[in-house]
Amino acid sequence: MIDLHCHYLPFVDDGADSLPAAIALATASAYDGVRHAVLTPHVFPGQWDNTKSSLAAGFVAFRAALKTSNLPLEVSLGGEVRLLPESLELAERDELPTLGIWEGQRVVLLELPDAHIPAGAYNAVAFLMARGYRPMIAHPERNKDVMRDPRRIMPLVQQGCLLQLTAASVTGQFGAPALKTSLALLDAGVVTAVASDAHNLTHRPPRMSMAREVLAVRYGVDAAMTLTEFNPGRIIGMLPDEPRPVDPQAATATATATAPGA
Ligand SMILES: [Fe+2]
Repeated sequence: MIDLHCHYLPFVDDGADSLPAAIALATASAYDGVRHAVLTPHVFPGQWDNTKSSLAAGFVAFRAALKTSNLPLEVSLGGEVRLLPESLELAERDELPTLGIWEGQRVVLLELPDAHIPAGAYNAVAFLMARGYRPMIAHPERNKDVMRDPRRIMPLVQQGCLLQLTAASVTGQFGAPALKTSLALLDAGVVTAVASDAHNLTHRPPRMSMAREVLAVRYGVDAAMTLTEFNPGRIIGMLPDEPRPVDPQAATATATATAPGA
């Protein structure tokens, strides 16, 4: 499996608080069946002041430490970016860490507040998409607005946002409402990936394999693999990316506008 969301990089957020803790998390992840983990520290201006540049040296050091442990686990650096005006400024300065590429655009893992979908979210997504970013909404199933009505996420999906569910929501470990919302989003076919969002070995351990089993039972093995392996693999470049499908209406308009003699 490929995990697009975890907090193993030590000392930079509320995830691993020491190098041994980080190595222990990576070890648990590898034993759970993950072969590539994208490390996604919080990028939360004012609370976790991380940027692509500020995280780079720590990431290189951690990857080197991991190499000495001989784990069958590759890592790359991403980030979990809080939806804030200051985060958009980081985008302008090319300081947002990204997970990889989807349909030619850089995937930014975007975290909404838990309580609601802010009114400014749609403009922020449009701002990011205009600059070549593809927002992937982190754990929408834990957003209270979406929990009340999963259809509340659809305007963001229609804008082009990808969705990432948390493995512990899919397995029911985050409670019935998060499970119910996860299943509604999965039933609607709007989920791109399931990831661990692991922070520690006690309350939020890396446990994607259980989610993959739940997905396989309910949606079939192909769907389970797509959500935990194929789509994440495409994002990190392990599988080929595909171009963004052309909007048929826009294509017709362009063809009409450029047709000879039109
Ligand atoms: Fe997270």
